Amino acid sequence: MLSDSLTKRLNRQITLEQYSANLYLQMSAWCEAQGLVGCAHFLGSHAEEEVQHMRRLFRYVNDTGAMAVIGAVDAPRADYADVKDLFEATLAHEEGITAAINELVAAAFAEGDYSTFQFLQWYVAEQHEEEGLFKQICDRIRIVGVDGPGLFLFDREIGDRVGASSKATPAN
Ligand code: FEO
Repeated sequence: MLSDSLTKRLNRQITLEQYSANLYLQMSAWCEAQGLVGCAHFLGSHAEEEVQHMRRLFRYVNDTGAMAVIGAVDAPRADYADVKDLFEATLAHEEGITAAINELVAAAFAEGDYSTFQFLQWYVAEQHEEEGLFKQICDRIRIVGVDGPGLFLFDREIGDRVGASSKATPAN
């Protein structure tokens, strides 16, 4: 049985993962509006992954004798100066999610809820992967640049990453 405190924290994370899905979907629309179809495809696919992150938590809360509650989801940022600005925002966002997951893990451990602690290890590993992915993309932008034809090549390269990004994470 989940404590009230952990239930609230897990429900906050559910809302945060739903926000992440909306954020990436909105980013994909910005990319599409710029003609960056590869980036749009990649970010749209990433939005689906975030829905799976949300649903995995949703299922866990319900399976553990509490009730999943999806809170109000803020509108995501819709405008970016350029593609560098956008991908820097993805990295900053994932760093924030990692901090939120770490707080959850610490709370589960402090309560002696080792089942939830164990469940959350999947998210710890996932955040390591996601931060690495977006950091790699930001490094790529910083080193090679995305000016002129570079932007065309970058967009194609990011579009090709979709397979690597869309891991199936069945949940509900
Ligand atoms: Fe669900 Fe991108 O973290």
